[in-house]
Parts: sequence; structure tokens; C-alpha cells
Amino acid sequence: MKKALFITFEGVDGTGKSTQARLLKERLMQAKVPVVLTREPGGTRLAEKIRALLLNEEGLNFSTVAEILLYAAARAQHVDEVIRPALEDQKVVICERFTDSTLAYQGYASGNDLEQIRQIDQFASGGLVPDLTFLLDLTPQTGWARIQERMAQGQQDRIEARGSAFQAKVREGYLRIAAAEPERICVINSNGLRIDEVHRLIWETFYDKYHSLLGNCR
Ligand SMILES: Nc1ncnc2c1ncn2[C@@H]1O[C@H](COP(=O)(O)OP(=O)(O)OP(=O)(O)O)[C@@H](O)[C@H]1O
Ligand SMILES: [Mg+2]
Repeated sequence: MKKALFITFEGVDGTGKSTQARLLKERLMQAKVPVVLTREPGGTRLAEKIRALLLNEEGLNFSTVAEILLYAAARAQHVDEVIRPALEDQKVVICERFTDSTLAYQGYASGNDLEQIRQIDQFASGGLVPDLTFLLDLTPQTGWARIQERMAQGQQDRIEARGSAFQAKVREGYLRIAAAEPERICVINSNGLRIDEVHRLIWETFYDKYHSLLGNCR
């Protein structure tokens, strides 16, 4: 039986990806499923350095193409060094952000050519597509309120600094991507839900699709 699974979490900034990815990982570990949790951009030493370049304001000026290619370089290293080896080891890989982020942020929200972005991504990822993607969706009001909370604590990064109109475009992009691939992408409407309630929805979806991986554990 195939045990390797590639699961991604997507969504606008602050929608709960890190929180929910960690909870899913813990749940799978309890069920004795071998699992690797990782994130993009990042996940390897080289890719974390690229992440720092991309996310931290150092006064650097990125051309659009340079930005897209830096993300792609980070992904190529991450797939090669972490994700594929773990999948070959029959592990479940949970990754915060992947191709859909590139399409939503650099494509739909920034207005770059989607087909070109798809081609670059295909080259970078070697055509790796997630088995299952959770898109955490919040209305712009809720999502933006969370980002502003973090700004107040001085934790804002370069992407978040693009403002609420940009975040709204990212969300629209995500919803269009999800509408085109309903089999792969599960949209989780997180408005008004507590962390444990969102986790329950995610777990139910996972369980429905993949309970055969879990033995007797629920
Ligand atoms: N369902 C929820 N209700 C209320 N607060 C939440 C919920 N889920 C997450 N949070 C809080 O919102 C903040 C952002 O969550 P988290 O870091 O998991 O989001 P993220 O999508 O990973 O963000 P980023 O895009 O910046 O990585 C955290 O302070 C987290 O505790
Ligand atoms: Mg996060």
C-alpha cells in the first residue's frame, strides 16, 4: 500500500497554516504515522537563506522576475533535499505553502503571467503536485485583523506590508485555484471557528480520504 502522501496548507497570511499544520502533524504522530513537517519558502539551509532574503526588509530591490526565480530556486532545493526523499521513504510530508502560493501571490495578486509561472514552477518542483491541499479561508476582515495584531507587535514582514487590498487579491486567486481543482483542494472556511474546530474539519477530511493509512487509530 502506498503510504507516502504530500499534503500542503495554503491561505493568505495569518489564516492559521502553521497552527493547523502542526496539529495535523501531532495527530498523525499519535497514530504512529511517520511524518515530516516543513515550510516554504524554506525547509533547507539554502532555502531558508533565500526565505530570509525574500521576507525580510533589508532595503533590497527585487525585480518581479528575480522574485519569482528566487522562490523557484528555494522550491527546487526543498523538493530535492527534503520532500522527495521523505516521500520515497514512505513518509507523510506536510508542507506550509507550495505551488498554489506562487500562483496566488506572484500570479493572481501581482498580475504576472500565470502560464509562465506554471512553467517555472514545473521546472523547479519537477512536476510534484500535492495529494491533498487544505486552503484555510478567512474573509479579508478577519485575516487582516490578525495581520494587524502582528504588526502591532512589530512582526510584520515584507509580504504582509503590501496591505489589505493585496491580501484580498491573494484570497481571490486562491479561491479560483481551488474552484478549478476541487478534488485536490479542500477549502476550509475558518471564519468564527476556534483552532480546535478548524483542526476537526481538517482531520475529518484527512480521515475520510486516508484512514487506511492509520491502522486502528482514530
Ligand atoms: N481559528 C483561530 N482563531 C483565532 N486565532 C487563530 C486561529 N488560528 C490561528 N490563530 C492565530 O492567528 C495567528 C496566525 O496563525 P498562524 O501563524 O498559524 O497563521 P499562518 O497562516 O501560518 O500565518 P503566516 O502566513 O504568517 O505564516 C496566530 O496568532 C494564531 O494563534
Ligand atoms: Mg505560518
